[in-house]
Amino acid sequence: MGQIDYIKEIAKYGLENDQKNLMDSLQKIISYYKDSKRINMAMQLQSLVKHAKRESGQLTRVGTNHYFNQQTQREIDELVIDKLRSEYRLKDLVIDEDIKRELSHFIRENSSVDFLQQFNLTISNKLLLHGPSGCGKTLASYVIAGELNKPMYIINLGAIVSSKLGETSKNLMKIFRKATQESCIIFIDEFDSIGKVRDYNQDHGEMKRVVNTILQLFDYLPPTSVIIAATNQQKMIDEALVRRFDLNLRFELPDTLKIGELINLTLKNGQFRLPKDVDLSNIIEMCSGLSYYSIQKTLINAIKRTLFNQIDNKNIAKVVNTNIWLDLIQQEKRTLQKS
Ligand SMILES: Nc1ncnc2c1ncn2[C@@H]1O[C@H](COP(=O)(O)OP(=O)(O)OP(=O)(O)O)[C@@H](O)[C@H]1O
Ligand SMILES: [Mg+2]
Repeated sequence: MGQIDYIKEIAKYGLENDQKNLMDSLQKIISYYKDSKRINMAMQLQSLVKHAKRESGQLTRVGTNHYFNQQTQREIDELVIDKLRSEYRLKDLVIDEDIKRELSHFIRENSSVDFLQQFNLTISNKLLLHGPSGCGKTLASYVIAGELNKPMYIINLGAIVSSKLGETSKNLMKIFRKATQESCIIFIDEFDSIGKVRDYNQDHGEMKRVVNTILQLFDYLPPTSVIIAATNQQKMIDEALVRRFDLNLRFELPDTLKIGELINLTLKNGQFRLPKDVDLSNIIEMCSGLSYYSIQKTLINAIKRTLFNQIDNKNIAKVVNTNIWLDLIQQEKRTLQKS
């Protein structure tokens, strides 16, 4: 079954108020997203299901009292995509050593707040991640949430940025007030959407107001909370705002060494392997210029196709068919060139 079939099922059972089948279909689409490495989607859905179960013991029926009581909460929920906990660790991220060291320091500092405060030292808890798509910015935020063992609010900046004068600042304040009631991580993805305020309002005053609000909120951020913002268009962000982050890390496309590490990680450190006589340097060369995401996607698809080709065999060899993989790499490059 493909994504569209799961969505149709979910719509059908949701409209029929068939709680049991709805849950089953949701679990199926979550597995589907996990298998196709769309971890963000999988985690967001999983957390929605958990939240719904916690709230009512089962999913909320449209039209019940419980449904209507939730409306006020929804106002805030609309601005926040999700609140989740993460199991990711630093070892899941393949990244330049310098960046990894900086991330480790950041994690260490934010897990030693009491210690540093004894010496009246302020905590560096505002992090900006930037760089090309598919290079681990969102993954890094999950790693930080996992390592710090704190809940993470994922903010929907698209929903916050409003065309109505003054609304964007109000929305931002609402979220911060709610999120900082507990020790947490606030992850603002696509931080560059802030730049849209200018386009929506054609009013530089409004843009300034929004930037000032964010600066104020940064100042009120409790030391036990963390802000992570991510963008692949750092130039769209006001300079004054960029400067207020304690740490600004650039995530680059992988070099040959990192491509090798990513391949290893994706092969699950030995569970699958490449043929013994493989010309690895040629494959790495072919992958060069692609993002971590694209390389991983092609390799995972190659693994699956290799397995499917042996579906009727008694013994399944976990050796990746590199011809399939090379074809997928070329296909990915062609697709990216077109877009
Ligand atoms: N540095 C990396 N190490 C290991 N896996 C990675 C890395 N970068 C990306 N991946 C894989 O690709 C997936 C997508 O990456 P991610 O969402 O973190 O990219 P991003 O930089 O946030 O991209 P975008 O700018 O499009 O939001 C990750 O879930 C992970 O499976
Ligand atoms: Mg991202």
